[in-house]
This record gives sequence, C-alpha cells and structure tokens, in this order.
Amino acid sequence: MFAVHLMAFYFTKLKEDQIKKVDRFLYHMRLSDETLLDIMARFQAEMQKGLGKDTNPTASVKMLPTFVRAIPDGSENGEFLSLDLGGSKFRVLKVQVSEEGKRNVQMESQFYPTPNEIIRGNGTQLFEYVADCLADFMKTKGLKQKKFPLGLTFSFPCRQTKLEEGILLSWTKKFKARGVQNTDVVSSLANAMKKRKDIDVDILALVNDTVGTMMTCAYDDPYCEVGVIIGTGTNACYMEDMSNIDLVEGDEGRMCINTEWGAFGDDGALEDIRTEFDRELDLGSLNPGKQLFEKMISGLYLGELVRLILLKMAKAGLLFGGEKSSALHIKGKIETRHVAAMEKYKEGLANTREILTDLGLEPSEADCIAVQHVCTIVSFRSANLCAAALAAILTRLRENKKLARLRTTVGMDGTLYKIHPQYPKRLHKVVRKLVPNCDVRFLLSESGSTKGAAMVTAVASRVQAQRKQIDKVLALFQLTREQLEGVQDKMRVELDYGLKRDTHPLATVKMLPTYVRGMPDGTEKGKFLALDLGGTNFRVLLVKIRSGWRSVRIYNKIFAIPLEIMQGTGEELFDHIVQCIADFLDYMGLKGAQLPLGFTFSFPCRQASIDKGTLIEWTKGFKATDCEGEDVVDMLREAIKRRNEFDLDIVAVVNDTVGTMMTCGYEDPNCEVGLIAGTGSNMCYMEEMRNIELVEGDEGKMCINTEWGGFGDNGCIDDIRTQYDKEVDEGSLNPGKQRYEKMTSGMYLGEIVRQILIDLTKQGLLFRGQISERLRTRGIFETKFLSQIESDRLALLQVRRILQQLGLDSTCEDSIVVKEVCGAVSRRAAQLYGAGLAAIVEKRREDQGLEHLKITVGVDGTLYKLHPHFSRILQETVKELAPQCDVTFMLSEDGSGKGAALITAVAKRLQQARKEN
Ligand code: BG6
Ligand code: BG6
Ligand code: GLC
Ligand code: GLC
Repeated sequence: MFAVHLMAFYFTKLKEDQIKKVDRFLYHMRLSDETLLDIMARFQAEMQKGLGKDTNPTASVKMLPTFVRAIPDGSENGEFLSLDLGGSKFRVLKVQVSEEGKRNVQMESQFYPTPNEIIRGNGTQLFEYVADCLADFMKTKGLKQKKFPLGLTFSFPCRQTKLEEGILLSWTKKFKARGVQNTDVVSSLANAMKKRKDIDVDILALVNDTVGTMMTCAYDDPYCEVGVIIGTGTNACYMEDMSNIDLVEGDEGRMCINTEWGAFGDDGALEDIRTEFDRELDLGSLNPGKQLFEKMISGLYLGELVRLILLKMAKAGLLFGGEKSSALHIKGKIETRHVAAMEKYKEGLANTREILTDLGLEPSEADCIAVQHVCTIVSFRSANLCAAALAAILTRLRENKKLARLRTTVGMDGTLYKIHPQYPKRLHKVVRKLVPNCDVRFLLSESGSTKGAAMVTAVASRVQAQRKQIDKVLALFQLTREQLEGVQDKMRVELDYGLKRDTHPLATVKMLPTYVRGMPDGTEKGKFLALDLGGTNFRVLLVKIRSGWRSVRIYNKIFAIPLEIMQGTGEELFDHIVQCIADFLDYMGLKGAQLPLGFTFSFPCRQASIDKGTLIEWTKGFKATDCEGEDVVDMLREAIKRRNEFDLDIVAVVNDTVGTMMTCGYEDPNCEVGLIAGTGSNMCYMEEMRNIELVEGDEGKMCINTEWGGFGDNGCIDDIRTQYDKEVDEGSLNPGKQRYEKMTSGMYLGEIVRQILIDLTKQGLLFRGQISERLRTRGIFETKFLSQIESDRLALLQVRRILQQLGLDSTCEDSIVVKEVCGAVSRRAAQLYGAGLAAIVEKRREDQGLEHLKITVGVDGTLYKLHPHFSRILQETVKELAPQCDVTFMLSEDGSGKGAALITAVAKRLQQARKEN
C-alpha cells in the first residue's frame, strides 16, 4: 500500500518537474488571455484592412470575395461532379442533390494520390493529371455519356471576379506547381479537360474548402455562416455584408469572404509572438515568409514544430540525456498524427514512448512526460490562435448584425480538428471565453466540403440556365450583317415604290413631295414666326434672318400640349395652338404684328404646294379627331379666325425632317438629307425631279419626305420583328402602322424594353418574379431614362437607383439585366436606322452615277442627341453598309424651326415674285 502511494507521489512529482521544465522552456508559446484578446483585436483590424479598396493591396489577410451570395435554401437540385483538391486527400465525386424540397444528398467518391512530382512539377501536367483522374472516375462510374456541371473545391488563395474563375495568388501548403500562380485555375483545368475530348464537363464554380465546408454545414443548419478548416492548412470564411465589401459592386445582401487567415502576420504583425522554432520552421518550408499564422497552427506544421523543439531540448541536455537520434534530425519525421497520438488521454504516454523509440531514441519516463507536454503546448497554442481569429470573425458578424447576442454556427473540418483528441474541446472553450456574447455551435462537416461545393454549383447551374434564357431573348435583337443588308435592300425597294405613280398608292413608305426645291442660298432675310409641333416639345419661335451674313437669331418658347388635347378634337388642338401663339406674341411684345409663318408639322402630310398639307394620318402620340384628311394649314387659319385677335400669313408647312435638313443646309450646302431620331423616326432627302412621278417636271430636285416610319407595314420586315415589337404595336394608338418607327424611335424603345422586362419577370428571371404595378405602366421608360441607364459612366448602383426612382425595386443582378436589355434594344434601333440611311445614300450615289458620294446628313431628335451609343452605332452601320458613301453627320443645334423659317423666306420671295408677275 505504502509502496503504491510512494509510486504515485514519485510519479506526480516527476510529472510536475517535467511540466515545469517544459513550461519554462516554452514560455513564449503559452499565450495569456490578454495576449489572445490582443491578437483578436489585431485580426479584426486586419479584416478591415483586407476589405477596404485602398488598403487591400497591402493587406496580408486578403479577405477574398467568393461570389457565393447565399447559403443553401433547400431548393438546390441536380447531379454534379466535384473535385476536392488541396487538402490532405484528392477526391473526385459525383453528388446528387435531391429534388422537391427533400434535403437528401447522395455521393459517390474516389480518392486519388497526389504524388510530389505532380503537385510540385509543371502546372500543365498537374491539370492534365486532374483531368485524367476525373476521366477515370467517370469511366468507372459509367458517367461518360452525359454532360455534367462541375464544382471545383480548390483549397488555395484565389482572386475571383466571378464564381467560375480563380486567379491563384500563391501556392500554400505542399503544392508548388510551376506556371500556375497568377493564372486562372478554372480555365487551365477546362483546357486540360477539353484536350482529352472523351469527357464533357462544364466547370461552373470554384470554391475554397472553407466555403465548401460552410455550405455543407449550412445545408443542415441554416445558422451556419462561418466555415473553418484546421487541417493541412488553416483558414476561415464567413458571410460579410456586401456594403462592407469594397472590391465588389453592389451593397445588397451578403457575400462569403474567404479570409485566407493563414497569411495573418506575413507583414510582421505577429513577430512578438513568433518563436525561434516558428522562424526555423518557416525557413525550411516551401514558402518562406508566407503563411506565418498557418505555420503556427495547421497540421502540416505542428509535428515539425514539435520536432524542432525536441531537438533543441535534447541539444540543451533537457531530454534523452542529451542524446539525439539521426531520425530526430530529419525534417518531417514527426507528423501531426504523432502529436495527436501522443496527446491521447489514456494511451498517450505509451504512444509517446513508442513514437520516440521509433525515432531511434531511448526515452525515459520523464522524457515521455516532457515530450507529451511539448505536444500539448504546441497544439494548445494552435487552438488558442485559431480561437482568437475566429472570435474576431464572430465579433464582426455580431456587430454587422447590430446584435447584443449572436447565435451562430461554425462549420468545421480538417484532419487536425478531427483526429486530435483534445483540440475541438480546447478550441470551443477558448472561443466561448473570448466572445461571451455569442452562442456558438460548432458543427463538424462529416462529408467534407463537397456537398457544399455541389450546392454552390447547383445555384450556379440554375443561374446559368437563367442566363441562357435571358440570352435567348436578347439574341432576338441581335441582327446579323445579312439581316441588316436585307433591311437595306427592302428599304431601297420601298423607296422606289413610293416614287412611282403606279405603285405609290399602295406604298408603305409614302415618299411625299414637299415642294421644297432647293437649299437656302444666303440671300434669305426677314422676321418670321415658326411653329414646331410633333416632337417632344411644342415651340413657338421668332426667327430673324439677316441676309448675306448667314446669321439667324431665334427667340422661342416651349408650351405644353396636354394629353387630353393631343387626343381631343381637332378644333381644341388648333385653338390651343393659336392660344400659345397669342401668348408668345404677347411675351415678345409683338401683339398685332402680321408676320409670315412657317409651320413645322411633324406628321405625314400630302402636299400640293408648299402652303398646303393634308394630314394623311396621325402618328406617335397624337390622335385628335377630325384632322385626318384635312388641310392643317386651313385648320390653323380657321382657328386664328375663330380667335379673331390677329392675322398671320401662313406661307409654308414643313415636316421636321425637312426643317432639320434646311437648318443644317444653311451651314453646309452639301446637306441633302434630314434625319429625325426622336419621339418618331423619319428621313427626307433631295431627289431628282425626274424620279418623282407624282410631280410634273423633270428639272432640278425636290425634297421628299419619305415617312419611312411606315416601312414594314406590309409585313416585309416581319422576319426580324419580335413578339415584343408586336406587343408594343398592339398597345399603341395606331396598331399595324409605323412598324419600323416602332422598332426604332424614342417613343417606343422604352416600351419594347418594358415588354421584355415583363416577359423576363414572368419567366422568373427578374424582379424575383414579381410584376409590379409600375412595370405594368405604359411609357415609364422615357428615352432619357434609357439614355441614363446605358451611360458607361454609371456604376451599377446608380442604375439601380434610376430603376428605383422609376418604382422598380431591383437588385444589382436585376440592374445588370435591365441595362443589357436596354442596350440590345437601342443597338438594334441604331442599326436599323443605319440600314435605312444606307439605302438612301446608296440610291443617291447610284442615281448620280458616282463612284463615291460625299454627303451631309442633318440630324435631330432626343434619341440621337441624348443616347450614349446610338449615334456611334448608327454611323458605324452606315459606313459598313454603304462603304462607297462618305457620310457626314451634322447635328441640328437650333431645331427645325430655323429651317422652317428659311423655307418660309424662300417661299415668301417666290410668292412676292408671282404676285409682281
Ligand atoms: C476535407 C475537405 O474534408 O478537409 C477538403 O473535403 C479540405 O476540402 C480538407 O481541404 C481539409 O483538411 P485536410 O486535413 O485534409 O487538409
Ligand atoms: C426638335 C425639332 O429639335 O427635334 C423638332 O425642332 C423635331 O421639329 C424634334 O420634331 C424631334 O425630336 P424629338 O425627340 O423631340 O421628337
Ligand atoms: C491554406 C490555403 C487556404 C485553405 C487552407 C485550408 O491556408 O491557402 O485556401 O483554405 O489552406 O485547406
Ligand atoms: C413620325 C411622323 C413624321 C416625323 C417623325 C419624326 O414618324 O410621321 O412625319 O417626321 O415622326 O418626328
């Protein structure tokens, strides 16, 4: 009995002595609570630094955005392939995520070796090897017939700008293949697979193992928002608020951040706690100076730390009676699994003796106790350091959520955490001590990170399918060169139809003679009134022309035309116009002045002379009754008479295209085309009299108002009209009419966009599938909004703000799609304009028998003026389709009122001459 007590006493004493000895020797490795709190604070600062745009480049903790935006919601399904590369084992898997709300995941997998010559050889070979393993797996499992989406778990620091990309920042742990750093791992692997030709896979996602782990655990526990690996390497990821992630656009929701905490301290931030052993280990590693935090923690290094310590202690005579074995000198001889075995609760001491003996040592009882304690200190420090960094993340999460207490789950994986008998307990305890205001559940990922990677892939594959649907819609608006040439040719045919007496009555492009026969010559002079009706604004103008100087002064005022007048009776409309004229004369102090007036009336009119114009039919937003078939000049005269206040001499009625051509022609006599890309779409040009069969005479030229907006009304361009164009047409004031105009002009482009958005929403591809009242509202997308949305200078957030102002509650992803839709619609419009214009200039060139034509086009209209890309695309298209024409575009700065006044001046002179005759 006494002997037993004595033995126990002896043993306790021995143990105490050994522990004290080791404690003294490894004093620097034992971290106090204050030190841990201090490290936690330092890590918090590091995270902040990594997240900031300006501070990220110099941050050692990279805080990499992963483009994983949500934890699984159970709706994921499908069959996926998965690779898990970078941990202690390389695995290929097939994962079946089950359908219809049943959370059920089935996996089949196969491990493959990763020989050093592969992982430290040449990059191309590494990827070829991975592809070989995948092909082998697919063959054994009989999966070769089908195309599979694949998720790649790649456990190294990668910079991502999207899910299916990863630029390797640096190799860590045991890998060091050449030529891979700073390249995209996904495309390298995809290339290696493509080369094989016998497998068909689509890599949809690259995820870090921490992310895979978090997602795996989150599939079972929706509170999981952190993933930690304590294995070969160590790292953590967590869900960060988008508003805190400077490196990614958008501020809505959250995104998973791969902290790459292994690199904490690479800038010297941990020098005070690193020991001589840490430095020695680092110098002998594959990546000296890098991953300094990881090297104090993870499985690849713990055993080696223990070895270095034992060697030093032996050298100092503190162990093995000062004897060292040759094995103890060999790098890597003590592994983490040895450390774990030595720390086992009951067998630990026996294990220690065995392991030391295997190393060629002859340990005493005291040695075994001391060595076991070395292991404890090293692995405890590891757990402490992890706990401090994890506590920093948890605090950040709690603060982001502005909670007093946080309830959360941390997904865990990694061999050290899994096989070390005390590690989890210690880690949990320290974390709870460091963040007493967090209720943390630690959830071990039983199935590795693959299940989570499959979840991410499932979401990516849903997004990809949706993207395909969106692309399908956008493709309807992408016209090929052949299609544009087809439009050009058909337009050319229609132009000829409209000019010929026989075919004119049935022509859809009406080719209306305007009785404007020449360009201003600079001798025009006088004071004129002008009206400008039919564009975005109704204006009344006073135009003073000084002869010889080519100088014109314009005074004008914009008046509103309320919708009920645009669509009321003709009398009301013209009375309103006269009222505006009266106001203007009053405003200008010209009451009672009898001035000649030019009337820009931007609708199709059949003219028999310059001062007569019978409205054929309303277009755009006008629909006043009793006007179609009437002479608008007469209607204006009668309204003036009804008012009985002043008299005006209405000398000319001109289309806005004609006014625009004249305005520009005053500056550039080569201007023989007038183009409007505004509310409506139209074009006029100078035609040879001999080609105009409707007007007597063959001498000289006359301006033809093409009214090309009606192009296609006979169905000739139905092949390129989409369902959306048809919907816009059906909802318009003039169904079936002005089909070309409805595909090209400002009044309709926004409507086309709206129809597409409604359809995409119905398909569940936008606005969370909810069609809001606003989206149902006709006309919400005015040209100015389209122009704003498409501006290159606009950040996504600003697009989103515009949409929100329009009452559309859009996410950032929605905003991207809306912008793309606007782009597709406006691009097509500009190209169609280009094709139409190419038809005209080519006709002019051929008619004049010229090899090359140099011509100026006067242009006006809000679409042309405001839209950021319209004019460029239009011009490019003309250049491409009419390469023999050198077309200069001249923007009409003064509107068409000036041109109308010039036409009035000429007409007045002719009128006078006639009277004198
Ligand atoms: C595995 C995961 O379970 O753990 C891997 O599937 C991960 O993705 C690994 O890299 C980490 O642990 P270790 O110890 O293998 O590096
Ligand atoms: C104006 C002209 O500048 O542009 C009008 O003065 C023309 O005559 C108008 O109708 C066309 O553009 P929008 O965009 O106003 O229809
Ligand atoms: C290394 C890698 C990191 C990975 C971790 C755990 O730290 O850099 O990406 O998550 O090991 O495997
Ligand atoms: C409509 C009108 C046309 C006008 C054009 C531009 O197409 O019918 O006359 O030129 O709009 O305003």
